[in-house]
Amino acid sequence: MSSKEFSDFITAVLDKTDIVSLISRYVKLDRKGNTHWACCPFHHENQPSFAVNAERQFFHCFGCKESGNALSFVMKIENIEFYDALKILAEQAGMEIPKTSGGYERQIDRKQREALYTLMRDAARHYHDNLSDPRAKKFVDYLKDRQIPPNMITRFGLGASLDFTEMLSYLQSKGYTYEQIHAAGIAESKDGRKYDVFGGRLMYPIIDNMNRVVAFGGRTLEQDAHFAKYRNSTQTDIFDKSNVIYGINLLKKRKSKKPIDYVIMTEGYMDVIALHKGGFDTAVASMGTALTAKQARQLKLYSDLVYISYDGDTAGQKATLRGLDILRETGLIVKVVRLPEGQDPDDVIKRGGSEAYQKLLDEAVPLTAYKIDVLRSKYDLADPDRRAMFAIEATGVVAALDNPVEQEQYLRYISGLTGFSTEALMRQADISPKSIGQASKNTVAQQQQRSQEAEQKPVDKTTEGMLTFLLASMLQARDYVDYDLDVSGAMTDEFSLRLYKFCREKRENAPKAYEYEFGEADTARINELLDYRFIDGDGKKKFVDIERKLYCKVLEDERRALIAENNPAKMVRIKAINDEIYKYKHS
Ligand code: UTP
Ligand code: MN
Repeated sequence: MSSKEFSDFITAVLDKTDIVSLISRYVKLDRKGNTHWACCPFHHENQPSFAVNAERQFFHCFGCKESGNALSFVMKIENIEFYDALKILAEQAGMEIPKTSGGYERQIDRKQREALYTLMRDAARHYHDNLSDPRAKKFVDYLKDRQIPPNMITRFGLGASLDFTEMLSYLQSKGYTYEQIHAAGIAESKDGRKYDVFGGRLMYPIIDNMNRVVAFGGRTLEQDAHFAKYRNSTQTDIFDKSNVIYGINLLKKRKSKKPIDYVIMTEGYMDVIALHKGGFDTAVASMGTALTAKQARQLKLYSDLVYISYDGDTAGQKATLRGLDILRETGLIVKVVRLPEGQDPDDVIKRGGSEAYQKLLDEAVPLTAYKIDVLRSKYDLADPDRRAMFAIEATGVVAALDNPVEQEQYLRYISGLTGFSTEALMRQADISPKSIGQASKNTVAQQQQRSQEAEQKPVDKTTEGMLTFLLASMLQARDYVDYDLDVSGAMTDEFSLRLYKFCREKRENAPKAYEYEFGEADTARINELLDYRFIDGDGKKKFVDIERKLYCKVLEDERRALIAENNPAKMVRIKAINDEIYKYKHS
C-alpha cells in the first residue's frame, strides 16, 4: 500500500468517526451550539475549558493547550501509539486496517513491537500452563498456602517459570529468536549461557490497558534469598515502568460493566490479588515506584476518588507523598487508608475478611489530614521550638490547598495542636483572612466569569504553566523581561534549566543564538516556546509576579529542607527565609 493510499485510509477512518461521541465516552460533554464543553481530561480544572468542535471535528483545551483530532485524542487518553489508535478507531468504524501500511521505517518498528507483544502473550500463556505441570507442585502449594483461589489465578494469569532454560526452549520452538526473547526482557546471557531471567520464580504478568502483556514480575519462593524478592522486567520497547499500572486491564473491563465509585491504589501484586479476592475489584498497584502524572491521568479516566492503601511506612515517605500530590493535582480526591502497623491489605483480609478492610476504607482520611498527622508524629509538641517548626511545616501543607474552607478547617486543627492563633498561622502560610471570608461569596456570577476567563487564559497558576510563560518570554526576549532574580532553582527539568541559564546569559540575543545551542532533541520544546501564544495582559506585571512566586518556591524548598533537619540551630535561617518570603509576597 502506498503512502497516499494509507493517508486516504486514515482520512476515511476519521470521516467515519464522530469526535463528539468518541470523547463523550471519556468525559461528560455539555453542548453549547456547535461546541461541546467539558472539564479537561488532560489537566486538572474545575471549570470547563476543554472544547470539542463538532463541525471541525477537533478538540482544544484553552487551559493546557492540548488539541487535535480524534486520533490524537485516542493516543493521548489511552496513552498509546499512533498505529494502535488508528486500529481502535478503524475497528469502531467497522473498517479493516490494511496489513502493510505506513512508511517503511514505521512498518519495521511496528512489526518489531507487534512481534514482542505476541511473544509476551505466548510466554505468559506458557508460564501459566506450567502450573499444571507436575514439576510446578511447589508453586501450586505456595498459592494454596497463600489462599489464592483458582479463579484469581486465572484472572491474573499467574504462572511459573520452572527453571532457567525451559521457557527459552519453548519460545525458540515457536520460532522466536534469542534476540527477540532478549528484547522482550525475558532472556539474558552470561558466559555464553542463555537463561530465563525469571528462572524458578512465580510469575505475575503485567497487562496494559489494551490487554497486552507488556512485562512480568517474578517472585522467588525462597524464604531468605540473597537476591531481590521480586524481579521485574527491565525497560523494553513495550514496557515503561513509570507508565504502567498493575491491574489497569481489569479496571477497564470492570468499568465497561458498571460505573466505578473509587479505585484502590496498593503497593504490589499480592495486595491487588488479595483485594480482588475480597470483592474489592477496583484495586490496582503502582509497582514500587512513585506515581507519575501519566499514571494519575489514567486513573482519572476511571474514577475521581482514589484510596491509597500503602503500608504506613511507605505512605509517609517523601517520594510517596509527592506521588500523592501528583494525584491531587490531577484533580483526584485522595484518601489515605490507615493500615494497622506492619500489615498490608493482604494481611488485613486474611485476618479479618472483607469487612475488616471495608472498615478501614470507611475510616480513610483525606490526604491533607494524613500529611499533618505524619508531621505531627515527627515532632515532640511539648517542646516549644519543635512546636513552632511543626506549625510552620504543617501550615505549609495547608497553604498548598486551593479551597479556603478546607484551609480554615485545617488551620484550626493546627492551632488546636500548637496553641498558635489561626491569624498567626494564616500570616505564616500567607493566606489572607479576606480570601477565606470570601469563600461563601462564591456566587454564580463569579463562577461564570471565571469559566469565561478560563477559556482565554492559560493555566499559569501551576509551576509548569508559570515556567512556560517565563521561558517563552525569555526565549523570545519580550521587552518586559528582566534578569533581577535568579530562579534557576525552580526549574523542574534539565532542558528548562539549560534554557533558563542560556537566556540569562544571552539576554536580548537569545532569539538569535538559541539555534547554535539547542539541537534536534530539543526542537519540540523550543518550538512550543517560540509558538507560545501571549494574550492581552501578559506583560511586566505578570512576569515579575511569576518570577517572585518561583523565587519564593525556591526559598520554601530550602526552608523545608532545613526544617527536615530538625535542628533548632537552623531557626535563624528559617526565620530569615520567612521574612524574605513575606517581603516578596507583599511588595
Ligand atoms: P511487597 O514486599 O509488599 O510485596 O512489595 P507483595 O506484593 O506484598 O508480595 P508478597 O506478599 O511478599 O508475596 C510491594 C511491591 O514492590 C515491588 C513489587 O511490585 C511488589 O509487589 N517489589 C518488591 C519489587 O519490585 N522488588 C522487590 O524486591 C520487592
Ligand atoms: Mn505482601
